[in-house]
Amino acid sequence: MIQKPKGTRDILPSEIYKWQYIEDKVKRVFENAGMKEIRVPVFENTELFSRGVGETTDVVQKEMYTFEDKGGRSITLRPEGTAGVVRSYIENGMASLATPLKLWYEMAMYRYENVQKGRLREFRQIGTEVIGTQSYLADVEVIYLGMQIFKVLNIPNISLNINSIGCPKCRAKYQDALRDFIRPNLDKYCDTCKTRFEKNPMRILDCKEEKCKEMNQGAPQILDYLCDECSDHFENVKKLLKELEIDYKIDSGIVRGLDYYTKTVFEFVSEDDGLTVLGGGRYDGLVKEIGGQDTPAVGFAMGVERLLEIFNKYNPDLIKDKTIDIYIANIGESANICATKLVNDLRKNDVFAEKDICERSLKAQFKYADKQGAKFVITIGDDEVKNNEAKMKNMVTGEEFDIKLTVEDIMNNM
Ligand code: HAM
Repeated sequence: MIQKPKGTRDILPSEIYKWQYIEDKVKRVFENAGMKEIRVPVFENTELFSRGVGETTDVVQKEMYTFEDKGGRSITLRPEGTAGVVRSYIENGMASLATPLKLWYEMAMYRYENVQKGRLREFRQIGTEVIGTQSYLADVEVIYLGMQIFKVLNIPNISLNINSIGCPKCRAKYQDALRDFIRPNLDKYCDTCKTRFEKNPMRILDCKEEKCKEMNQGAPQILDYLCDECSDHFENVKKLLKELEIDYKIDSGIVRGLDYYTKTVFEFVSEDDGLTVLGGGRYDGLVKEIGGQDTPAVGFAMGVERLLEIFNKYNPDLIKDKTIDIYIANIGESANICATKLVNDLRKNDVFAEKDICERSLKAQFKYADKQGAKFVITIGDDEVKNNEAKMKNMVTGEEFDIKLTVEDIMNNM
């Protein structure tokens, strides 16, 4: 048997309604905040990610699904959404639209990861990008939206961790201090860290190797190196979060795995399993890096599979799959035609109606209706068609009553 590739999963009909529930709720949160949905290609030119996400990141160095297409172009399956959305923003001249531009998306992402709990190779992200404002107010707005999503999905025990990683100006001084700290042990770091030492030492803080993590203990912290502008920005974010009574912790260890971040970065972590469900931050240099005007932006993305896992834990009975409203069992040719027309008309009236399409016996039809949890069953044969009358049974109470074989009468008796 051919099996699905490692790190992918099927979303089965038996669970799709949970996805749809989450998607509906999240969509409402975004749309009430003025966000518009965007969809961008599954694959992009590789250069978009190497420039946008950063040459020295794990995502670009180790995790991208990159291939040459038949025309000899280097193509990559998107490992994240921000770079593609920003490319689309520039390419489609969206800078001329009302500012800030508030976008949201739900898209599948692809990363060649070590597969483990909460870490897939194909996964979905729901995210938002707010483009065109440098104000701390936008940082707080997206953080607040993230919180609201957990609230409307009835998911508790999520903690918010924030940090500021400054701008290229303050980072230059910090990187020097970091290099000074790392240098004495550099030969003991892993090969990847060694290659990042000169180009991007902050990435070394993000290394997942135990020995590197240990040596990173006590490293200088970016918060001590922020320039006045970045420091004021972070103070304003913290102050407003406090005023809005949003609990947060400052975690100076958050550097995020993507190079485009500036100033505020944040993560929402599940206290139950320690997994980061949502990650984001400000990225004031990305639009320019990809070829647009100098335009500040901020956003986040949440892993839907991770979100669903916790959602299931706290909402085991909240939603049920939709069941058939009316099943029309029938026997005989004229009854079949009558049942077909009735089912079609009921569906036009937004009623979930079904009938047999397998030419099965009445007994088998009843069995199917029962298995599918039909709320009402109408049984018709040729006599019922002739008299334009039939019995309709309430499958919950067992009560049976006479109805006319019209959509109006059926709907009045539901
Ligand atoms: P990220 O932190 O790489 O950020 O991913 C965001 C979220 O996607 C993570 O917190 C996690 O829930 C989920 N995720 C990431 N990798 C995997 C995986 N292999 N399997 C399952 N879930 C995963 C970004 O992607 C940024 N583009 C977020 C952003 C938007 N920043 C600004 N705007």
